[in-house]
Amino acid sequence: MPSSSFPCLLFGSLLLFISHSIAQTSFRPKALVLPVSKDPSSLQYLTQLNQRTPLVPVKLTLDLGGQFLWVDCDQGYVSSTYKPARCRSAQCSLAKAKASSCGQCISARKPGCNNNTCYLYPDNTVTRTATSGELAQDVVSIQSTDGSNPGRGVSVPKFLFDCGATFILEGLASGVKGMAGLGRTRISLPSKFSAAFSFYRKFAICLSSSTRANGVVFFGDGPYVLLPNMDVSKSLIYTPLILNHVSTASVYSLGDSSAEYFIGVKSIKINEKRVPLNSSLLSINREGFGGTKISTVNPYTVMETTIYNAVINAFVKELANVPRVASVAPFGACFSSKNIGSTRVGPAVPQIDFVLQSQTVYWRIFGTNSMVQVRDYVLCLGFVDGGSNPRTSIVIGGQSSAV
Ligand SMILES: *[C@@H]1O[C@H](CO)[C@@H](O)[C@H](O)[C@H]1NC(C)=O
Ligand SMILES: *[C@@H]1O[C@H](CO)[C@@H](O)[C@H](O)[C@H]1NC(C)=O
Repeated sequence: MPSSSFPCLLFGSLLLFISHSIAQTSFRPKALVLPVSKDPSSLQYLTQLNQRTPLVPVKLTLDLGGQFLWVDCDQGYVSSTYKPARCRSAQCSLAKAKASSCGQCISARKPGCNNNTCYLYPDNTVTRTATSGELAQDVVSIQSTDGSNPGRGVSVPKFLFDCGATFILEGLASGVKGMAGLGRTRISLPSKFSAAFSFYRKFAICLSSSTRANGVVFFGDGPYVLLPNMDVSKSLIYTPLILNHVSTASVYSLGDSSAEYFIGVKSIKINEKRVPLNSSLLSINREGFGGTKISTVNPYTVMETTIYNAVINAFVKELANVPRVASVAPFGACFSSKNIGSTRVGPAVPQIDFVLQSQTVYWRIFGTNSMVQVRDYVLCLGFVDGGSNPRTSIVIGGQSSAV
């Protein structure tokens, strides 16, 4: 990502804003900020929260569509302020924990194992594994901001989270102890922070496609100043968020579609030319299949097979003057980078537009977000074939949504 171009996605209660050109006690903060880094080996986006008493830094994988914060309580969870959520308490109903999930724990009492508490299903959305975990609350501390400069740390004394287990950490980046869910639920990080400090339910996530540059999550209202004199909240396009009403929360290990952020991609253009697609795959059907969502846990954009093939074919056609080289899995179109120039927005390749609610509103993917360097002199289009009947037709992954 060129340093002059810092990308952000801003989530309001109903709208998603995408920035193209640039890519934030009696003290009440206006906004809060979390640092985001991209782990070079897993390509996961990582953040860090301070939690417990005494406070310890907890490294987490960021999950844009995740339902809540969960951390491993099995190993090394020590805190004098840990409090399990009692069955039928306000916390349990906020989390929509079922009365039937009211539990007893037969091992020794400790964080994650108490009697008469309610349970949720923390899930590792990278590997799609889940377990059952005690709902609880503990102190969380986070840095405040005025949108431009970091401010003092602020604490939320009873931050709701779910207890995961050590075995579901498998597949997460090294050192990670859980996942930070930013999804559309009443107990996700944005909801809990805005409730704690009574600010507008709005957050922005700015991701870097490079592992060398850092990103950020802002909770609360802008400005969101990332570089001097560059307020990203001033240069956004917007598109309505689409709710996928079909909740999959009860299905073990599938996450919950209704917590995820879907947008209305109406067509795809490559170099301004419309790619022929079966457009019925682009809307969400009655069973909750289809549509387009944004994900931070998928490193690359994944497309249903017919969409994928059409996009690859159109892209290859537009790049006909560049020699194709053998494909490198999981990618299907790779090129010799010796014949590709470079621009301010990455390799000089055809631009890919996800056209939104009208022809004039589109999310443009440039080379920096479409191409992956797999080895010396080999650049691949960073899209992956998602098979012929995936739940969601297009999942815009981290590489692309780092706009
Ligand atoms: C939960 O209650 C059962 C039955 O009374 C008891 O055997 C068990 O030790 C208790 N577990 C904890 C963690 O207190
Ligand atoms: C388009 O996709 C829908 C939904 O998967 C499918 O039922 C239909 O048969 C497809 N149409 C064509 C022409 O392939």
